[in-house]
Amino acid sequence: MKFNEAEIIQLPKNFDRRGNLSVIEEANHIPFEIERTYWIYDVPGGEIRGGHAYRQNQEFIVALSGSFEVLLDDGKVRKIFPLNRSYYGLYVPQGVWRQMQNFSTNSVALILASTKFDLSDYIYDYSYFKDNVQ
Ligand code: TYD
Repeated sequence: MKFNEAEIIQLPKNFDRRGNLSVIEEANHIPFEIERTYWIYDVPGGEIRGGHAYRQNQEFIVALSGSFEVLLDDGKVRKIFPLNRSYYGLYVPQGVWRQMQNFSTNSVALILASTKFDLSDYIYDYSYFKDNVQ
């Protein structure tokens, strides 16, 4: 089951009265090398992002600001991971259905990805995913 691999990873925290600092180093704090970084912001209330799986791409998702939930589904079990602090994130292995939902106002999702953008890596058909991917 892929959920053995999906996990919340705590990041280094440098608390400081001048403001706090956290950091992510590839292949150190997260288990892959970073090929791409993108972020999702200005999400209107009630909108859902994601709703697909990747064949190869692995991701690490951080709520840089605000809060949202990541729903993961390995074809058998669904689990919701609430993200609301910028000093931890969710590692999402390849081959897991993922959806992002319940974004708070002004939330920002930072996503580090292990591959460059490639539409052919996406699986948008849930029944195909269930039958073929896990
Ligand atoms: P998509 O991955 O479908 O967003 P989400 O899963 O968060 O709902 O991407 C939305 C659009 O942005 C789509 O037209 C492809 C484009 N896009 C890129 O050009 N590069 C990227 O790295 C990503 C993630 C998306």
